Amino acid sequence: MIAPHRHLLQIEGMHPPQIETMLDLAESYVLLNRSGKTQRDLLRGRTLINLFFEDSTRTRTSFELAGKRLGADVINMSVSTSSVNKGETLLDTAATLNAMMCDLLVVRHDQSGAPNLLAQKVDAAVINAGDGTHEHPTQALLDALTIRRRKGKLEGLVVAICGDILHSRVARSNIHLLSAMGSTVRVVAPPTLIPADAARLGVEVFHDMAKGLAGADVVMALRLQRERMNGGMVPSAREYFRFYGLDFEKLSHARPDAMVMHPGPMNRGVEIDSAVADDPVRSVIKEQVEMGVAVRMAVLDILSRGQNRNV
Ligand code: NCD
Repeated sequence: MIAPHRHLLQIEGMHPPQIETMLDLAESYVLLNRSGKTQRDLLRGRTLINLFFEDSTRTRTSFELAGKRLGADVINMSVSTSSVNKGETLLDTAATLNAMMCDLLVVRHDQSGAPNLLAQKVDAAVINAGDGTHEHPTQALLDALTIRRRKGKLEGLVVAICGDILHSRVARSNIHLLSAMGSTVRVVAPPTLIPADAARLGVEVFHDMAKGLAGADVVMALRLQRERMNGGMVPSAREYFRFYGLDFEKLSHARPDAMVMHPGPMNRGVEIDSAVADDPVRSVIKEQVEMGVAVRMAVLDILSRGQNRNV
């Protein structure tokens, strides 16, 4: 069970009005950011700690920027995953963070469920910034905001998520959010990269890009997460690109106004062709990054309200 106004651990279980509230607030932060104004009083005196046990560029920097734009004190802790006993480290870390009286804790971890565990041990509001293959809720919110801004709605759209679905927390969070909001979600991947619980997730499964993209409004490409793979689950990168790499030929099966998304980091020439990724009309990849800051400001805003602390 999640309590979205205390922590943000996952999209699964969130109701459409809760999602809409977050997106509407994020929309107001898009306008604020574009106007060059800030709201530094909102989180003044609050401490936000970025606790990243895995690499990150966009997510960590955008949480940092979001916190700073709202006036919080932001601390970045990067933790090496290689040599630590994860259970012990997490609980020790939780005790340390509690002693520091942190208000907002942003956690990325390679183990699914780590943020949920921390949320039980710390007083801070915990935000999941990606846990293993489980969820990445702020990514799904920023993707939804990007889609809603371009298409004017989420309901009734056909969204094709392509590539390494099996290892992707981005795919899972997007599937939960977009299905809850009334989109039809398709996953397109070789059989080895489709999760066993795809049917439970309520998605349509395709192994062929032409069929999976037919009539799609939104096409989302995902990176091959080799760091989570045991052994060869795909042929060579060249072979993979031939069948699943998003190029203009494959994109031609989608609707003529289909938008192209990618959460980053991109492997050009593997899951997406550079010409598609950089297309100024079809690709919204840079806009996704901009929406990421606004969405994270909205999340920090909402969760800090839930804390009822006078600062
Ligand atoms: C994703 C992640 O870390 O889950 N990146 C991101 O947050 N934008 C996707 C990936 O690593 O491929």
